[in-house]
Amino acid sequence: MIALSLAEIAAVVGGQTHDIPDPSVQVTGPVVRDSREAGPGSLFAAFVGERVDGHDYAAQVVEAGAVAVLASRPVGVPAIVVEDVQSALGALARHVVRRLGATLVALTGSAGKTSTKDLIAQVLRRKAPTVFTPGSLNNEIGLPLTALSATEETKFLVLEMGARGIGHIRYLAELTPPRIGLVLNVGTAHIGEFGGREQIAQAKGELVEALPSAEDGGAAVLNADDPLVRAMASRTKAKVVLFGESAEADVRAENVRLTDSGQPAFRLHTPSGACDVTMRLYGEHHVSNALAAAAVAHELGMSAEEIALALSEAGSLSRWRMEVTERPDGVTIVNDAYNANPESMRAALRALAAMGQGRRTWAVLGKMAELGDEALAEHDAVGRLAVRLNVSKLVAVGGVEASWLQLGAYNEGSWGEESVHVSDAQAAVDLLRSELRPGDVVLVKASRSVGLESVAQALLEAGAEGGVDAR
Ligand SMILES: Nc1ncnc2c1ncn2[C@@H]1O[C@H](COP(=O)(O)OP(=O)(O)O)[C@@H](O)[C@H]1O
Ligand SMILES: [Mg+2]
Repeated sequence: MIALSLAEIAAVVGGQTHDIPDPSVQVTGPVVRDSREAGPGSLFAAFVGERVDGHDYAAQVVEAGAVAVLASRPVGVPAIVVEDVQSALGALARHVVRRLGATLVALTGSAGKTSTKDLIAQVLRRKAPTVFTPGSLNNEIGLPLTALSATEETKFLVLEMGARGIGHIRYLAELTPPRIGLVLNVGTAHIGEFGGREQIAQAKGELVEALPSAEDGGAAVLNADDPLVRAMASRTKAKVVLFGESAEADVRAENVRLTDSGQPAFRLHTPSGACDVTMRLYGEHHVSNALAAAAVAHELGMSAEEIALALSEAGSLSRWRMEVTERPDGVTIVNDAYNANPESMRAALRALAAMGQGRRTWAVLGKMAELGDEALAEHDAVGRLAVRLNVSKLVAVGGVEASWLQLGAYNEGSWGEESVHVSDAQAAVDLLRSELRPGDVVLVKASRSVGLESVAQALLEAGAEGGVDAR
């Protein structure tokens, strides 16, 4: 964080100082909510959770070097006491980003926010110091904490914004007003909570409504291939920059293909030139994410060459997203268990097929959550696609949705033991442990709530123990 005295912080958040002998002492370190992260110079934000009350750790964090606690009651050690710690944190973030010289980039969308944020950060940091959301900390607490981790050196601040309803993005964009706002897609994630795709579009579009005008440098970066996102152009006074595969996009990809190892390759076109990209990431859904990142970087003055190089070298910064690991025995595990939706299931299966040429391929799949009325048809279609792509074995894991996956495969013409339905993760691991052979490629993917990363983890451990029959 930029250095601020306790007196300044108290004034910004409208709090009372308690047990503070010297209010001119400065907070220099990060603002943290986890007591274990509190170190010298830090400010500890005490939240009252369901199981733990941060206030109970006040003495401990001060012992560890924290300058003070941002709290909702006096705690016997230096504290700034406010009515609501979350709003105080937000007010502090707003104050700090106003004083920073950094350019703020915010992004939202139904799927791919974290992957794209990680790509943007890996491109922009080649040009100047960049701070970005760690992992998926994209809510009303994670966002201000990330913003507060920026320093005087920071030139770019890249913020993931999540929403579960109308007004959420508007709130986040008020805390940290972006100059560039990117909307990736409007899908079906959390559709139950929103009430429909139109409502999701309404909520995500709040980002472009919050942008400054084109004259003041505002830019709305929108997915030309997604009609609900494309339509957000009418909701902003910022300049509109389109990305996608469609011809009208300002930043677009041509000749998109997957390499034999399942990595996307394409020719990147920007208004200032074109360049070839071959990504290290797996799965064609990353093409859209890469174009989004390229559009942001181009807007911030980077050349097509610089962007293409950065995209070609970018790796995966967040876990369980097409994480490819080679086991010592020659089995390849593709862990994409972080989450799943129909688009990413299709992309992952295509990547598996590309990687598996001449090898045996396994798709270990669980349910895609929150699909409402579409659930049966979508699971059926994924099961069918696995067969069409010639995936050798489909292992559908879990309850009724998994049975739809398996039935889709069966009806598309898989027979014998080419597709199986098992009840849970342990059953899948048991099956795979006895069946996997050197050279096999295994994709593991399902919605977050299924927790299939445990399968990928068990398979990696089995490989390390040499616990697989090599036949
Ligand atoms: N552009 C995209 N379109 C559809 N699905 C995607 C896209 N990018 C990533 N995904 C899928 O969504 C999952 C979650 O990706 P992530 O980047 O964490 O998204 P978010 O942060 O929006 O939840 C990934 O495992 C991948 O399967
Ligand atoms: Mg995320």
